[in-house]
Amino acid sequence: MTTATASRFEELLSTRATIARPRPLQAAGTATYEFGGGLPDPASFPYAGILEATARMLEAEGAEAMTYGDPQGYRGLRELVCDKYERYEGLQITPDSLVVANGSGHALSLAFSALLDVGDPMICEAPTFHGTLFTIRRHGPEILDVPVDAEGIVTDAVRVRLETLRRQGRRCKLIYTIDNFQNPAGPTMSRRRREALIALAQEFGTLILEDDAYGELRFEGEPIPSLYALDDSGCVIRAGTLSKTLGAGVRLGWLCASKEMLPYLQGFNFGGGVSPFMSRVATYYMREHMVEHIALLVDVYREKRDQMLRGLWEPLEGTDAEISHPEGGFFLWLKLPTGADPARLAELADEAGVRYVAGPTFFPNGGGERNVRLAYSYESPEKCYQGGKLFAECIRKATA
Ligand SMILES: Cc1ncc(COP(=O)(O)O)c(C=O)c1O
Repeated sequence: MTTATASRFEELLSTRATIARPRPLQAAGTATYEFGGGLPDPASFPYAGILEATARMLEAEGAEAMTYGDPQGYRGLRELVCDKYERYEGLQITPDSLVVANGSGHALSLAFSALLDVGDPMICEAPTFHGTLFTIRRHGPEILDVPVDAEGIVTDAVRVRLETLRRQGRRCKLIYTIDNFQNPAGPTMSRRRREALIALAQEFGTLILEDDAYGELRFEGEPIPSLYALDDSGCVIRAGTLSKTLGAGVRLGWLCASKEMLPYLQGFNFGGGVSPFMSRVATYYMREHMVEHIALLVDVYREKRDQMLRGLWEPLEGTDAEISHPEGGFFLWLKLPTGADPARLAELADEAGVRYVAGPTFFPNGGGERNVRLAYSYESPEKCYQGGKLFAECIRKATA
């Protein structure tokens, strides 16, 4: 392409396409120790079960599976999600309060598209999942960050943000939060913080977007009711996904919202229903195997978390490094020891074949220079231990 053609093409791009830098393309799963992306464990994918479910589904549903589907998503899948919520959380909802999307990343983007105009204020955790941050930036809002601590989002800081906006005569559009095993920092929002956040949303007339991608993958401790379950005013939209319990390749997620709001969210969805075929395969498999499969995954990921923690702490014992101990999910969040040089660590880890994500990636408005995120989800327990140890040795070498 000539320069002239390239610049002509750039002039044609929409504001939304240029408002944030395009997402860098990075091949996942290519490092010796892939601790970068939150990739599910490939050894646990139920290959035989999916083959069997596909055959069973096609026999039962035939042409229905191969044509356009319900715009709100395959009803059987929406029923399955309702069943899952009832089984794991005692939460009773109906399929009418759900819309299916192409993974929860897409589900979240439906909410951002329905609510955010360029320049609108919204609140987001710092740190937060960088994938969502990319989607948020594409919509061009003013991102007001709020810290997280051991109890999740710091609601006193949310109040300060909301009061400041009110004084300016502005209204926060939404508060985006990852309440269970927060990605990347790991805490689960306490019940009192959940109640406080809902009270704030109601007091200031804003919405909460609850992103719960990992809730069932709890290794220990008691589940806490979701924001969506605790709210009775319709101020919570909740996103969920099959990516972490069945497989990210199925690309199936959803939003739960009030019946009044749902059409606005659905309005940004694709026509023809989201993958009517794959929705059916996933439903036929999960209807029969969900409970046993999730129980297996909980054991698999707990073991990986423990092995990575063991590997990391061996070289880091006695330093002032801090490492999260999440009760579930896929990630560890590290604070490097005093004196560690993040740039040197990046070189050493690269030479050692360890992929991780640097802390600043997760901060909307700067910060996190001394943090890194490691995903234990993808590699085997042995590699989590070895790679964790190797990475911690790199940290020691990068520390003056
Ligand atoms: C917190 C959180 N939300 C959303 C997603 C997106 O997942 P998917 O689009 O595969 O459902 C992820 C994936 O890592 C995540 O960690």
